[in-house]
Amino acid sequence: MMRTEQPKMIALSDYRLPDYLIDETHLTFELYEDHALVHARLLMQRNPALDSSLPPLLLHGQALELLTLALDGQPLTAVEYQLSADALQVQPQHSRFELSSTVRIEPQNNTALEGLYKSSGMFCTQCEAEGFRKITYYLDRPDVMSRFTTTIHAEKHSYPILLSNGNPVAEGDSEDGRHWATWEDPFKKPAYLFAIVAGDLWCVEDTFITMSGREVALRMYVEPENIDKCQHGMDSLKKSMRWDEEVYGREYDLDIFMIVAVNDFNMGAMENKGLNIFNSSCVLAKAETATDAAHQRIESIVAHEYFHNWSGNRVTCRDWFQLSLKEGFTVFRDSEFSADMNSRVVKRIEDVAYLRTHQFAEDAGPMAHPVRPAQYMEISNFYTLTIYEKGAEVVRMLHTLLGAQTFRKGSDLYFERHDGQAVTCDDFIAAMESVSGTDLTQFKRWYSQAGTPQLHISDSYDAATQTYQLTVKQSCPDTPGQSNKLPFVIPLSMALLNAQGVALPLQLAGENTAIADERVLSITEAEQTFSFINVPEQPLPSLLRGFSAPVIMDYDYSRDDLVFLLQHDTDGFNRWEAGQQLALQAIEDVVGQLYETQEPMLDSRLVEVFRALLAQEDLDPAMLAEFIALPGTGYIIEQYEQADPLAIHQAREYVSDQLAYALKEPMLARYHALRKVSLQTPYVAQAEDIARRRLQNMLLAYLMRTDDLDIVDECVDQFGVSDNMTERLSALACLVNSPFHDEAEQALESFADRFADDPIVMDQWFSVQAAAVLPDGLERVQHLLHHPAFSIKNPNKVRAVIGAFSTQNTPNFHALDGSGYAFLADKVIELDALNPQIAARMISPLTRWQRYDLHQQEMMQMQLKRIKNSGDLSADLFEVLEKSLAV
Ligand code: BES
Ligand code: ZN
Repeated sequence: MMRTEQPKMIALSDYRLPDYLIDETHLTFELYEDHALVHARLLMQRNPALDSSLPPLLLHGQALELLTLALDGQPLTAVEYQLSADALQVQPQHSRFELSSTVRIEPQNNTALEGLYKSSGMFCTQCEAEGFRKITYYLDRPDVMSRFTTTIHAEKHSYPILLSNGNPVAEGDSEDGRHWATWEDPFKKPAYLFAIVAGDLWCVEDTFITMSGREVALRMYVEPENIDKCQHGMDSLKKSMRWDEEVYGREYDLDIFMIVAVNDFNMGAMENKGLNIFNSSCVLAKAETATDAAHQRIESIVAHEYFHNWSGNRVTCRDWFQLSLKEGFTVFRDSEFSADMNSRVVKRIEDVAYLRTHQFAEDAGPMAHPVRPAQYMEISNFYTLTIYEKGAEVVRMLHTLLGAQTFRKGSDLYFERHDGQAVTCDDFIAAMESVSGTDLTQFKRWYSQAGTPQLHISDSYDAATQTYQLTVKQSCPDTPGQSNKLPFVIPLSMALLNAQGVALPLQLAGENTAIADERVLSITEAEQTFSFINVPEQPLPSLLRGFSAPVIMDYDYSRDDLVFLLQHDTDGFNRWEAGQQLALQAIEDVVGQLYETQEPMLDSRLVEVFRALLAQEDLDPAMLAEFIALPGTGYIIEQYEQADPLAIHQAREYVSDQLAYALKEPMLARYHALRKVSLQTPYVAQAEDIARRRLQNMLLAYLMRTDDLDIVDECVDQFGVSDNMTERLSALACLVNSPFHDEAEQALESFADRFADDPIVMDQWFSVQAAAVLPDGLERVQHLLHHPAFSIKNPNKVRAVIGAFSTQNTPNFHALDGSGYAFLADKVIELDALNPQIAARMISPLTRWQRYDLHQQEMMQMQLKRIKNSGDLSADLFEVLEKSLAV
């Protein structure tokens, strides 16, 4: 593996236009078992936007063996070019020229899974962000867009299917059992969207008629044994195509759209033009093997990659600092799509829970960076929660501030103005400014300032004048390299509830009438006061409704207020949020009591409000399930300056147990009713059924805490007879986390027997065990690493075992003796030699060391230092270590 010396910082301010452009890219691949040859013929020109001089041409290239090189047909001798570890330099003689090269690469030895590699016997590629330079010498930057023609030659028996971007234009057989195919992509694209696939694949076909009446062929290519797991992905694709037409007016542009599923993939999926490549776990599903959550995830990822065809491909990024231009926008698009396909409130709750647990942690730690970073060392490290999730929230705030109609006009203008271009976040904002006539200069601070803003809200009511005042203060903590932040533009959606829970009409001082009973206040200053008039009684404010901005809000609600809001708020999201805050406070009480070695005591208000919710027959089961789910350990940890993860885990367990004992009867009755329906209903992955199963499984998890043998029997029964993975896996997780060791072992064994040949299902079997919070968790995880189905070269397996252990298994990962941290460090060192991207991702729990108690801090830092001194590190891992140890 090639190691960079001391990786360099790349700065946004250093951006320069490319010296040369590539009009046409003609590639020929010759694939063999022990190597591949790549012939490239590039039709190039001096960038007409620059002067007419002819500076040296510097092409990117990494781990390539150069075999031939010619300029305008003339082979170049060794003195006519310069080669370094990551570049090739030649001197053009004319403003237009043709550069041809042949390189030799070894896909079969590519364990980094970037560039051209082999996965389960097939060849595939992953080029974003800078993987194309591992395939051939090229201008591997997104502002160089070219028309690609690609020919693939391979042995026919093992690789009957040969795919690339665009349309198939020719194919044929050649000598020695080999064959070839040529593909032509009519759209200019940056190299990161290039892809080829060669393998023995089966395909499911369908068609889609676009809004203008064109027929598009849809194909999903999978290994033969997965052919019965394609329907859900295909349905998701068709829904996405229709939704993008209806909601954004965007039509698909090629005659064919292909999806390929591969087993070894660093990410979830990739939007290569016309040829999306998916991690098989993110596209293959059927009821018996994939949970509801997996079905929903697949629906959203298929949509996400499809939506990139416009937000990313037709209009792409000028440079990688603009990554959120395509990723933030596309995450916003896919989350709105999921909201339209399923329950909008539940989707919002899930997204916010994820954002607050993970992105807020990133924003508060040593890796904090703005949505548009100013510099980076390794771009692969910048596919972060901030770029994706916070980036999506920034686009959502624009949608909220401008309104759906104006936002749509803005996106239309953006796509029209910049079709075929590589642009910046400023261009996106400029389109929104043009259609709205709004100056978004201050709003753009969301792109440049890191850190999570805090909103401190207080109020007062004057009965005599019927005036209600809301005072809002905003601030933002310092982040590495950034202090003294300027105020953001924060859309604050709010309502005022009377004692019956009715939202009052809202009239600000100076307004003639009340406009509505819910409105969005635009917070722009460090401190601002809003006066509402004609407020007949002391109201209870409902603030930040729908989580209208990615901020930490505090308003001093009493626990009784929270109980009231959980039952009566007219905003579903805020009902949930009130319940979360109430539960959080109850858990925090117990943490405190554990320290004082007091007998812990659960606030009975939490029990009673849950009891009331359970009794409410007309409450949407999807909402009920969200309401009775306690805040996750990760989120609770984030609420402390310095957290004791063991005490937090213990307190959360205690509260869960107490709720289970106190509410056993109503929970059991409800569980039985739901399970009965499940037994009578064939599995469908649609919102209503998903909600039922989610509530049913959540109740089962509570009930299993009561150690009631009848309930254990029911759990074993649900595990054994269910026809779907959602019920089966939940029951398995309950058993594995219970003291009923024999039942758990039996279930694990029968599960492994049944699904031994299905790697995606085995990943779930691995994670359930790696996340199990029983004593000796580390030993069990060590054992899993020796299971024949485990491989450290497969990212899904690494995530299933090492990832699940270090992110979900709080008591074992944070064990007082530091063994959990040492384990992760060992694995990261091992991984870095194989797959630097995965190593750099897996280390992230250790980078959050400042969030923990001093003892944990020391042990975590010690492991970070040990990794740093372990020898040759990849640029990916080096950057993460530098930043997390710098503080
Ligand atoms: N373009 C990315 C995939 C990617 C990211 C490739 C980084 C190489 C490096 C793709 O569109 C994406 O964002 N995928 C996400 C899933 C999505 C639903 C957020 C992923 O792979 O996690
Ligand atoms: Zn994406």
